[in-house]
Amino acid sequence: MPNMKSLIDTLEIKGTLSKEEFVELLSGYTEEDTEYAREKAAKTANQYFDNKVYTRGLIEFTNYCKNDCYYCGIRRSNTNVVRYRLSDEDILSCCEQGYELGFRTFVLQGGEDLRYSDEDMIRIISSIKKNYPDCALTLSIGEKSYDSYLAFYKAGADRYLLRHETANEEHYRKLHPASLSLQVRKQCLRDLKAIGYQVGTGFMVGSPYQTADNLAEDLLFIKELSPAMVGIGPYLPHHDTPFAEEKQGSMELTLFLISILRLMIPNALIPATTALGTIHPLGREKGIMSGANVVMPNLSPVSVRKQYELYDNKICTGEEAAECRFCLQNRMHQIGYEIVTARGDFVPLQ
Ligand code: 5AD
Ligand code: FES
Repeated sequence: MPNMKSLIDTLEIKGTLSKEEFVELLSGYTEEDTEYAREKAAKTANQYFDNKVYTRGLIEFTNYCKNDCYYCGIRRSNTNVVRYRLSDEDILSCCEQGYELGFRTFVLQGGEDLRYSDEDMIRIISSIKKNYPDCALTLSIGEKSYDSYLAFYKAGADRYLLRHETANEEHYRKLHPASLSLQVRKQCLRDLKAIGYQVGTGFMVGSPYQTADNLAEDLLFIKELSPAMVGIGPYLPHHDTPFAEEKQGSMELTLFLISILRLMIPNALIPATTALGTIHPLGREKGIMSGANVVMPNLSPVSVRKQYELYDNKICTGEEAAECRFCLQNRMHQIGYEIVTARGDFVPLQ
């Protein structure tokens, strides 16, 4: 059996492993191995990004969702959620606040809300880009047709986040109702890339029924897609979902996977996610030290924060945008990193 360190060396050199090797690494690693990978990943991140951390202002503009994913707190069947939509004015005022705080990327994230027509989205996208032409705009609004994605791109959207959630068919069906399919999900990601978006994908670590084999498939799918961004975070239960009693994912494995992803795509934009900050008070710091290079504080009005609860105990639901901004700045300083005011576009390797 090859030892884990030599697998990590191979990963660093080749940027990937075979499926069998990934499975071996993910089922046999020790704390020492994660530390070994972490040091390499941090060094790689420093080579590409120095000690700089990019920041994205997240605007959760609607918590209505037509989908019923078994893990998600704002799933359609959860009638305990107080639903909300931000008006165009609300969204623009989040951007205004964000701009003053130094954000140069806005992420419009929402459930799959049928109330917004393509025209509505185009209006919102255009007005943000008109008011903030120097900012990047990221959409995270789920599965749409090629034509819709194209229209949003033409209206000015630069980037798109759509986690694949799991690259394994069988696992996908255990996490989602039959109305959702992995094939469609993957097609959306391919469409987004073909149109020219900087694309982000990702998955939850430790989602119910996930195996090392599944994770290996996730990594290989990501390698093949070659996205600009990869967001991962631990699965965390939400009390009003069918998975309420499932156990949460592991922080250590999430951090190990961040390091692995950094070694796979050295120039990728990888966030230290809110879920990571929720599972451990220093989760985001550990994420950055394991190879992540992005933080995504919330710009949504505090009045609705609590209602965008994908999982229990989500952090930052009571803090104003400015509080999170400076909180993160301090946290990054503590570990020797610096938040930068730059769009932070993906720079392809030569
Ligand atoms: N725990 C952790 N992450 C979750 N997401 C949704 N529900 C949960 C949960 N219970 C993630 C999904 C989705 C992203 C917006 O949030 O991966 O793509
Ligand atoms: Fe929100 Fe610290 S980042 S309070």
